[in-house]
Amino acid sequence: MDYTNATAEQHITGAKSYILSSPFYISLIGALLALALYDIWFRNTDAYKKLKSIPGPPVLPLIGHAHLVLGITPTEMVLKAIEYFNYYGETISGCFFNLMVVFLTNPADFEIILNSSVHLEKSNEYRFFQPWFGDGLLISKGDHWRLHRKMIAPTFHQSILKSFVPTFVQHSKKIANRLEAKYLGREFDVHEHMSQTTVEILLSTAMGMKQLPAGKECARYAEAVLEMCDIIQKRQVKAHYRFDFVYQWTQLRKRCDKMMSIILALTRRVITERRELFNVETDGVLDQQDGLNARASGREKEGLRDDLDEIDEESDVGAKRRLAFLDAMVEMTKNPDIAWTEKDVMDEVNTIMFEGHDTTSAGSSFVLSLLGIHKDVQARVYEEQKQIFADDLTRDCTFADTLEMQYLERVIKETLRLYPPVPVIGRKVNEDVRLASGPYTIPKGTTVVLANYAVHRRPDCYENPEKFDPDNFLPEKVSKRHYYSYVPFSAGPRSCVGRKYAMLMLKVLLSTLVRQFEIHSNVDETQFVLQGDIILKLANGFKIVLTRREV
Ligand code: HEM
Repeated sequence: MDYTNATAEQHITGAKSYILSSPFYISLIGALLALALYDIWFRNTDAYKKLKSIPGPPVLPLIGHAHLVLGITPTEMVLKAIEYFNYYGETISGCFFNLMVVFLTNPADFEIILNSSVHLEKSNEYRFFQPWFGDGLLISKGDHWRLHRKMIAPTFHQSILKSFVPTFVQHSKKIANRLEAKYLGREFDVHEHMSQTTVEILLSTAMGMKQLPAGKECARYAEAVLEMCDIIQKRQVKAHYRFDFVYQWTQLRKRCDKMMSIILALTRRVITERRELFNVETDGVLDQQDGLNARASGREKEGLRDDLDEIDEESDVGAKRRLAFLDAMVEMTKNPDIAWTEKDVMDEVNTIMFEGHDTTSAGSSFVLSLLGIHKDVQARVYEEQKQIFADDLTRDCTFADTLEMQYLERVIKETLRLYPPVPVIGRKVNEDVRLASGPYTIPKGTTVVLANYAVHRRPDCYENPEKFDPDNFLPEKVSKRHYYSYVPFSAGPRSCVGRKYAMLMLKVLLSTLVRQFEIHSNVDETQFVLQGDIILKLANGFKIVLTRREV
């Protein structure tokens, strides 16, 4: 043995004895061993074996598929999901550390989950909304959710929505005039304007505010909501942000605190003002059933039905005074027979302000961009408006007018098909679920991701699924499709409580804009860069050009 070999051996022996006597290394080796044993146990559980019978990409030891989402942007995530569905088929399993996930895209599977009165619990990913929504309707569960759904759904009754129409008109004209003054003939991103407008509309309708905060304040709120979506999305997909004990020391947490203070300041102001000014005698809406109500709810029967339809069809004897959302909340806190606290009001206002504005601003921005691209569709929309407003194209839209806007309704539905603002829905199943798409059982405890975006583009449901074609919603085509092949508002007991509000508001807003402007676009759909951070948007902006129509 020469001198150099002897020295190397001494080094190795020294290192071995250092590692074996160092508490840090011993703990590290122990932890790795424990993890390896846990992994072996986990992969031999019945639940994991059931999960693995569902197709999916190969898994790595311990981390499963976590490496596939590590560090990728929301845009890349959308593209990757589509790539996997194309490769592995309509039902895919995934495993992120010990989190079991199944992704569904078959309408029959959607029906099993969404139509059930058992699988009502939201997945763990929604917990990142907790500091913001508390126990608000979107994320709450059990009896709390049931009571709140029962009390909140009637505040979106047809009669109340009808009373909102003049306010929708007023705000639609305001934004139309603002855009005309600032951007006529110039390319601009319409999304931030739709964001501010939908915040203002919600404040004036569901929240009953008489004196709105300055436009800048509404815009700041809308920006803070966008930032919060980005933060929550990061917490959902980046492993280190998922753990509270790591997250609380990060810059992201500081950003979150700042955004939450902007959001909560507005919420508090809304509630305080309404509490001071609300008068139950004068602010309620007198619900007198008329032919229009019956016509509006009759049309809903074409599609999936939920508790909102049932509420609209209740035949109350005599006229009934109904309260809009925040007024009803304020009244309930005063009623000793209803368990409704100040925190409940805060949680629900935060939930409705988010759900009601970010979805409708994305929806309206997509419609405007698509009308700019598909000029033939825009011409048909305008033609329909000319027929409805034959007497005067500049007059205010009424509830009765909205019932005539059948082509515009098809355009909105087709937009929400191709670009659903909520592109996926997450549930946690608390018992094993047999699927219809194959011989698969989702094990109890699994997170189920229902990919609306993908189900809306199935070639067996839509003839030419990638093509923007509002006639996909002609009644004869709808009747031939599986009910659950179109679920932009989800479906079943946990469907969107603002579905009818959204459709009515979008019709009034878009009718007003289309009658005033011709919309142009310098891009086409192939240039859309989709960004899936909670609410689907375009990473490269909703760029349009407006020119004035000669009336
Ligand atoms: C185009 C507009 C809209 C779309 C596409 C949409 C879509 C959805 C979807 C898919 C869900 C289910 C989410 C899930 O399970 O994760 C949902 C739930 C909900 N939406 Fe909407 N929404 C829209 C507008 C609105 C509006 C305007 C409001 C209120 C004014 C609203 C309030 C809610 C609430 C409170 C829930 C939770 C319901 C529950 O869990 O019981 N949404 N929405």
